[in-house]
Amino acid sequence: MTFRAKHLLGIEHLGPDEIDTILNLADDYVALNRSKNKRSDVLAGLTQINMFFENSTRTQASFELAGKRLGADVMNMAMQASSIKKGETLIDTALTLNAMHPDLLVVRHPHSGAVELLASKVNCAVLNAGDGRHEHPTQALLDALTIRRKKGRLHRLSIAICGDIAHSRVARSNLILLGKMENRVRLVGPPTLMPSEVSELGVEVYDDMREGLKDVDVVMMLRLQKERMDGGFIPSEREYYHRYGLDAEKLSHAKPDAIVMHPGPMNRGVEIDGTIADDINRSVIQEQVEMGVAVRMAAMDLLVRNMRASRASVEV
Ligand code: NCD
Repeated sequence: MTFRAKHLLGIEHLGPDEIDTILNLADDYVALNRSKNKRSDVLAGLTQINMFFENSTRTQASFELAGKRLGADVMNMAMQASSIKKGETLIDTALTLNAMHPDLLVVRHPHSGAVELLASKVNCAVLNAGDGRHEHPTQALLDALTIRRKKGRLHRLSIAICGDIAHSRVARSNLILLGKMENRVRLVGPPTLMPSEVSELGVEVYDDMREGLKDVDVVMMLRLQKERMDGGFIPSEREYYHRYGLDAEKLSHAKPDAIVMHPGPMNRGVEIDGTIADDINRSVIQEQVEMGVAVRMAAMDLLVRNMRASRASVEV
């Protein structure tokens, strides 16, 4: 088993061996989560604090459940109602929480880099639950686990990431992870929704869905992130659906056994047709949610092992 990290801030910092380690352990947690007794005590006696400065449904619930299944004491900070509203800085909030001796801090923040900054100020393990447009490492890991289990491997696959790439930390973390594991990644979407540095990413770029989806193994759809748009990136949602929304006809250009993914929340009828999203023969969207809990259990378990090892070496 190899996992050297002290924090989980981004896929950028992980080696392929560390990615494999997380996924292998997550496979064990999938089995535990499907069993009758879902409890483990690897985090017993430890405190996990979830700090979500941005709205979240599945990521926060998934981290909470993951911590509880591992026996941690889990606290959700209501950041909307916190002292941040009274003008307290991120760092002051972090230092206050740090003084309560948490062992794990799970943080989502609207600004890229904020979670890394916070990690440098506290002395517990920090997990990035999404920072601005930067990274969302546990999402990429749960996507990787879903792909590996469905396709039987996580290398030499052809994967299309489609839609609003420019505003998406999910796309960025996936791009890095899938590249590290030696897959062929394509980006598909309108030029206005491609990141400015797209030519430096070493991936194929398409603005036509039919060409972009041709013979791919995996179709990963992204939400139009309207909250991150400050102007007219698309003519209209109707026009967007017509050109870039995933429907049966566009999907027919992918391999016959291609799987369809979406990190959620979905805009049905904007980036994806509801019938495709609900088609249990093609869509693995529910599996992604299931894998999310297991991957977060694995990540927290491994970080705590490293924390215990470093504390033990300090005490010696
Ligand atoms: C994503 C996020 O927050 O970055 N959602 C998620 O974590 N499941 C994607 C999105 O908001 O569109």
